Amino acid sequence: MIIFFSGTGNSKFVARELGVHLKETQIIQLKGETLYDPTKSHLKTDDKRVIWVFPTYSWGVPPVVKRFINECNFDGANDATHIMVTTCGDDIGETASQWRKLIAARKWQTGCAYSVIMPNTYVLMKGFDVDNPELAAHKLDEAPKQISEIARRISENIEGDILTKGSWPKIKTGIIYPYFVRFCMSPRPFKTNANCTGCGKCARACPMDNITMGAKCPQWHDRCALCLRCYHICPSDAVEYGNATKNKGQYFLE
Ligand SMILES: Cc1cc2nc3c(=O)[nH]c(=O)nc-3n(C[C@H](O)[C@H](O)[C@H](O)COP(=O)(O)O)c2cc1C
Ligand code: SF4
Ligand code: SF4
Repeated sequence: MIIFFSGTGNSKFVARELGVHLKETQIIQLKGETLYDPTKSHLKTDDKRVIWVFPTYSWGVPPVVKRFINECNFDGANDATHIMVTTCGDDIGETASQWRKLIAARKWQTGCAYSVIMPNTYVLMKGFDVDNPELAAHKLDEAPKQISEIARRISENIEGDILTKGSWPKIKTGIIYPYFVRFCMSPRPFKTNANCTGCGKCARACPMDNITMGAKCPQWHDRCALCLRCYHICPSDAVEYGNATKNKGQYFLE
């Protein structure tokens, strides 16, 4: 079984490719009610492995994925080995250790952990933007090779993680991640500029059902995952996050 969360499509791509290589029949996307209220979920599997695929957020597990692992109802999870595949723009710090603790807290068994470098989607701080087209294309060229190698290792039960932790992983995950989650994940700065046509695409695309359409413009509410799907998917480049997104690019993988 593969369970994935994806904002802008990178992790969905990885989950799909892994599914093809491993001939997985159960591929579950976390979105909507099960994502914002995991106690309403009813997962069930007879598989001997469960592969969790999700993006890295600030060198850690996205809070919505954390909450899902903590609170979901999952029959058969005790008899499976849980494997992590996280996607990132650059590096993941100690995301794998954080994920292992979450899985162990449910008394589930952890197996290997992997990361796959994909085009960057984080644009909400000074100095952070999407990759230039050449770099994004290069990453998308390399990713299928990494995914195929991960699939081979999973199917042959090869021990050992493959992770791009980057520099200062413990500091990034131990200190920056909690600060980021507490102070930098608010949906309040989201707004639209004059380009907004009121098409509603952002509202329909939000995996948390966090956007409603007002008289013409979208309105953001309080259960945001900060996945940035609404920002990247807008055909008019009309979504802004305070002043942080001025002159920043968009990226989205279908
Ligand atoms: C809120 C947020 C935080 C992010 N933090 C990191 C990070 O710490 N390290 C990194 O390499 N990429 C980071 N990224 C980039 C994403 O992990 C990366 O682009 C990922 O592949 C996006 O997956 P998705 O398209 O499935 O949502 C971040 C993106 C977002 C939206
Ligand atoms: S997708 Fe863009 S143009 Fe359409 S309603 Fe949302 S912000 Fe406005
Ligand atoms: S409001 Fe935007 S950033 Fe927040 S969860 Fe929905 S699509 Fe993602």
